[in-house]
Amino acid sequence: MKTYFSTFITGTQEIVKEFLAKRGVKIKLLLDGLVVYESDYPEREIRNFHIFNNTYLLLRSFSNLAPDAKSLEKILAMVSHDKNLQHQIAINLPSRKRNFKIVSSLENSMVPVSRELLQKLESIILRTPGTRLNIQKPDLEFWALLRRERYGFFGIRVTYPFRHENYREKGELRKEISYILSFLSKPNPKDVVLDPFAGYGSIPIERAASFPYKEIIAVEKEDDLISKLKQKVKASGKKIEVIRGNALALSGIQNKSIDKIISDPPWGEYKEVPDLEKFYESLLLEFDRILKKEGVIVLLIGAKDIFENILQNKFTNIFQLQKKYDILVSGKKAAIYKLVRNYENK
Ligand SMILES: C[S@@+](CC[C@H](N)C(=O)[O-])C[C@H]1O[C@@H](n2cnc3c(N)ncnc32)[C@H](O)[C@@H]1O
Repeated sequence: MKTYFSTFITGTQEIVKEFLAKRGVKIKLLLDGLVVYESDYPEREIRNFHIFNNTYLLLRSFSNLAPDAKSLEKILAMVSHDKNLQHQIAINLPSRKRNFKIVSSLENSMVPVSRELLQKLESIILRTPGTRLNIQKPDLEFWALLRRERYGFFGIRVTYPFRHENYREKGELRKEISYILSFLSKPNPKDVVLDPFAGYGSIPIERAASFPYKEIIAVEKEDDLISKLKQKVKASGKKIEVIRGNALALSGIQNKSIDKIISDPPWGEYKEVPDLEKFYESLLLEFDRILKKEGVIVLLIGAKDIFENILQNKFTNIFQLQKKYDILVSGKKAAIYKLVRNYENK
């Protein structure tokens, strides 16, 4: 049994708890944005937990530390003085990864620490045969993390973003969010899934990659995005139907034919939608038409107040708000809404 810690999107700890419970994984500590857990899953499966931003094998943990740079240095000093560290590193290094660097993070930001302390720790790591310090192009990272909740961690990163996987287009959702939205919809192999605002396709591609399904439809209105979306879908190797269309009038989609709508509609930040209120009203009316009786809607919304007003004032008889999660997306406030049909209206 090994102990890992993973970082995740702030505000989604309840979802992370459910995700790990489903896999029989024992949680040792759950903070808002970080979880420590024990697991004997092989590391390649741990790496495949797309709900997490990053995952690390835990070597040492600390508590009751003031969240400042001094305490971060204290962590590095304590780790360096640990007699067992060299052995721990030697037995836990991933095979074939030897070009390392040490990263120090305080409350989610990288902070510089004393060069002397780093050199001490680097020299201990360098005692493991084959290891080389490589700050520019490491394939192995040791992380010292200190959280505002006064917990500190030292570990080896087990999630490695390969360059092409890490690249995102402007406005493209992070895989972790798309995973969370899909997970919340309670995926079922018989699902007919629709993302009517598909953009670059992060949601449909992640839904297809992580859960079984019957059909996935991705709708996008912009021509230039449609061609990129088609390329991305092709590269994913998944069966996803891409349609150029208007999410507010989905003429090609039959009444009551969709099980799950999972989407990230425009946020209205750049005035790309002149009247957000009207826009939300039209989209919810269209969702009402195409969604099956037991259907589920999971939406990521930036303009929370406007959306909630419309929902409360015009759709309480039609949709019931089952869950709301306040989160941050690239530092911007947003919320995930899970809607189901109002019971009386089924
Ligand atoms: C917030 S972005 C979605 C980004 C997407 N989740 C991704 O990861 O790339 C909203 C998308 O909806 C598209 N869009 C806006 N109005 C639309 C409409 N009426 N019908 C279909 N797509 C629309 C925009 O072109 C944009 O690509």
